Amino acid sequence: MAHEYALILDSVTVRYDQKIAIFKVSLELEKGKLHVLMGPNGGGKTTLIRAAAGLVSYRGKIKIYGIDSREYLRRHAIGYLAQRGSTVYDFPMTALGIVEMGRYRFRESRKLKQEKAMEFLDEVDMAQYAHSPIGKLSGGQQQRVLIARALATESKLLLLDEPLTGMDPRSQSKFYDMIDSLKKRHELTILMSNHDVGFTSAYAENIMCINRELVPREQVARLFSEPEVEKLYGPNICLVEHHHLPSKEKDDV
Ligand SMILES: Nc1ncnc2c1ncn2[C@@H]1O[C@H](COP(=O)(O)OP(=O)(O)OP(=O)(O)O)[C@@H](O)[C@H]1O
Ligand SMILES: [Mg+2]
Repeated sequence: MAHEYALILDSVTVRYDQKIAIFKVSLELEKGKLHVLMGPNGGGKTTLIRAAAGLVSYRGKIKIYGIDSREYLRRHAIGYLAQRGSTVYDFPMTALGIVEMGRYRFRESRKLKQEKAMEFLDEVDMAQYAHSPIGKLSGGQQQRVLIARALATESKLLLLDEPLTGMDPRSQSKFYDMIDSLKKRHELTILMSNHDVGFTSAYAENIMCINRELVPREQVARLFSEPEVEKLYGPNICLVEHHHLPSKEKDDV
């Protein structure tokens, strides 16, 4: 049977020096769905995504399409969009050039590479900016180009770290529409982090909350089914869970 899950985390812990950023996180992401990871600032969203992308070391197990992630990542590219602000675009590269970078694993002619990159730029409605320097585009336009780069890898798994940052509500809703149609067209599994409730409940097929530990699923479902609570807590919805790690568990890491 083909693997039902695109990504599985089994008791994943990440620490930076002595500080635990995420603690024994286990989750399974069903294929072909949009999974949204929510949580307060510092809750561990970026850390979890970076662990899945093989960018930080971790304890526990991560599997991508049933294969140990380290092995998977040696052989395949995955689509990854870093949190905004973590990349500096102060270099002379065009939007098209950025998308071509996503195809670094493909052995193909320069012409084909360009054609493919153009197709993906078109999918995010950015073809008209193909030859603009990336640094000259607005934040939202840069995000679209980076989504095109992630798509250009032809990975069916996309990890998007807060792609909605800085967008007004109208752009957020347009962005979600775009993600939704890309997901359907390419049969993608998307893990996206976001710290506002915003349109999440309307589009996400699975909502998870992390505040160092994953908030139990039933609790998340309850929070999202009670509009009053959602209004009350707003973007801090995942802060309702407090964590105090007893020292014996720390030794366990
Ligand atoms: N490179 C690092 N070195 C040391 N500590 C780090 C590092 N990166 C993150 N942390 C710490 O790990 C914890 C989780 O951070 P992380 O960036 O994963 O949270 P986040 O949920 O993505 O937050 P935000 O919503 O602000 O993006 C925080 O306490 C943070 O200070
Ligand atoms: Mg983050």
